Amino acid sequence: MLTSPGGRAIGGPETTAIPDPVAKEQFHAEHDTRTFHMPSSLARQWVLITGASSGFGAAAALAFAREGASLLLGARRVDKLKAVARAARAAGAPEAKFQPLDVASTASVNAFAEWVRTVTPRVDILINNAGGAHGLDPVAEGKDADWETMLQTNVLGVLRVTRAILPLMLPQHAGTIINIGSIAGRVAYEGGAVYCAAKAGELQITRALRLELCGTGLRVATIDPGLAETEFSLVRFKGDTARAAKVYEGTQPLTAADIAEAIVWVASRPAHVCVDEMIIKPTDQAAIHKLYRRTAAK
Ligand SMILES: NC(=O)c1ccc[n+]([C@@H]2O[C@H](COP(=O)([O-])OP(=O)(O)OC[C@H]3O[C@@H](n4cnc5c(N)ncnc54)[C@H](OP(=O)(O)O)[C@@H]3O)[C@@H](O)[C@H]2O)c1
Repeated sequence: MLTSPGGRAIGGPETTAIPDPVAKEQFHAEHDTRTFHMPSSLARQWVLITGASSGFGAAAALAFAREGASLLLGARRVDKLKAVARAARAAGAPEAKFQPLDVASTASVNAFAEWVRTVTPRVDILINNAGGAHGLDPVAEGKDADWETMLQTNVLGVLRVTRAILPLMLPQHAGTIINIGSIAGRVAYEGGAVYCAAKAGELQITRALRLELCGTGLRVATIDPGLAETEFSLVRFKGDTARAAKVYEGTQPLTAADIAEAIVWVASRPAHVCVDEMIIKPTDQAAIHKLYRRTAAK
């Protein structure tokens, strides 16, 4: 029978509380397997990532691969997915499969889910990452196509993919859904009306889903980044590289790897721990409108 540092029996019929916090800490240091070098809890877990062809999604694929997880990758650019899958296998993923996915189309999402079923009967971790911003026009000059794309991907895409994949998660009574939101979902900015609305929608979907899934063993998190340098601005400004580069000029934004690290951390907490909401901003970005820029050296 195990005994606590105070000499009391642990786990036997006379189980008593461990005497004090310091002794408890010491006891856990000696007996808690979480402090030993164990294989990653993510090893051989099936991780599904939407928007895995670039930015956060591609970096998350590599970060999960390094933990020995198996990957299901989706996005529209299959050539890019292929390269990410190859790199993920080299980084340690036992399996890294990919398939075209357009989260703006219910038919595409359902076909993707059918393909997932041919690969694995279960999904352990779902990362709803696909999305982005289109344009920076004020409402008075907004374009229907931009508005529709932002709502289709950031809002309806999360709903469609979650609905299609939940049947592959619920039977395990455990699993993690991580939605990628934004600080834009919490604070509005000029020219961001629809992107901010879309990410505010993502935040409320995350909260509602957590309530709906309470008791199933599934946990639901949102990770809400601030300024990060990916293809995000290039997409927002429709391929205008000079305008996209200006967004990051003189400041130190987050990298895709920073967010990937946070995603893996949230997904690898013990099963009873849910990190509900995580906001990550660059140190240079104290608030959405307060971004420190170093002036160019004269
Ligand atoms: N970078 C930032 O500053 C920042 C900050 C906060 C939140 N976010 C959010 O983080 C997420 C990832 O963005 P990122 O920064 O990594 O930008 P990114 O490099 O542009 O990546 C966006 C990803 O979403 C995919 N995607 C876009 N539309 C899609 C669709 N209809 N169907 C399937 N996949 C689609 C893209 O793949 P394909 O084009 O190949 O389909 C790409 O893989 C987005 O939800 C974005 O809103 C970004």
